[in-house]
Amino acid sequence: MESTPLLRMEKIHKWFEEVHAVNDVDFEIHRGETVLLVGDNGAGKSTLIKIISGIHQPTSGKIYFEGKKVKINSVNQARKLGIETVYQERAIVGSISVARNVFLGREPQRSFGLAKIVDSKLMKEKSFEAVNKGLGLNISSMDQEARFCSGGEQQGIAIARAFLFKSKLVILDEPTNALSMAGVKQVQKFIKELGKKGIASIIITHSLSSMFPVSDRIVIFSRGSKILDKPKSEASLENVECLLLD
Ligand SMILES: Nc1ncnc2c1ncn2[C@@H]1O[C@H](COP(=O)(O)OP(=O)(O)O)[C@@H](O)[C@H]1O
Ligand SMILES: [Mg+2]
Repeated sequence: MESTPLLRMEKIHKWFEEVHAVNDVDFEIHRGETVLLVGDNGAGKSTLIKIISGIHQPTSGKIYFEGKKVKINSVNQARKLGIETVYQERAIVGSISVARNVFLGREPQRSFGLAKIVDSKLMKEKSFEAVNKGLGLNISSMDQEARFCSGGEQQGIAIARAFLFKSKLVILDEPTNALSMAGVKQVQKFIKELGKKGIASIIITHSLSSMFPVSDRIVIFSRGSKILDKPKSEASLENVECLLLD
């Protein structure tokens, strides 16, 4: 494995008033690596990823991205670094088109007289490429409303943003919640596809058994602390499940 991690966090603490949500956590991830982040409710998983995606600032600790010390003060800044986050509840807006969902807030514009308007043609081409060529989906119309896509396809539409915007790290919060078996299989495939293209991913999941096969490393949180951080080859599914039950 290369020596400079893509992201490295050192001695991260986060306090919310008297709640010690993240307690002295070191965390790193390399290019193309898939890390599962698991642990009880309230363990601090979401807080950690919100620090990475620029929603929260740590109370103390250092963050390095591609070897350089950074402060991630906003979601936009995280995106500029190449960090894309897909939140479970807010992955997709059902009432707008597939193409618009891929861009969501970053629509390309073109001049129309003196005005700027959304470049729909470019948006459709680029989203088609990211969704169908990038992730191997088969969504024929980029104009259809996203709510007509299956749950697996909807996750794919959100993940396709990573290809389009050339992300280096994708964070997925519970990507398989409420998905059918077929949807889970699709998400497994998307995650492998990210890895193949050198894009790292952090996956928060309750569904350990379904995401374990596609992961490279397992990290367990408990009450704000990291209690396990091992390559999959050194951590059996049974062991991880036992630790989670403790
Ligand atoms: N915005 C917030 N304000 C106050 N407390 C919070 C906030 N976000 C999380 N917490 C607290 O921090 C702890 C860790 O929460 P969280 O990171 O959401 O855990 P997890 O995602 O592992 O379930 C919990 O005790 C939670 O109540
Ligand atoms: Mg959470």
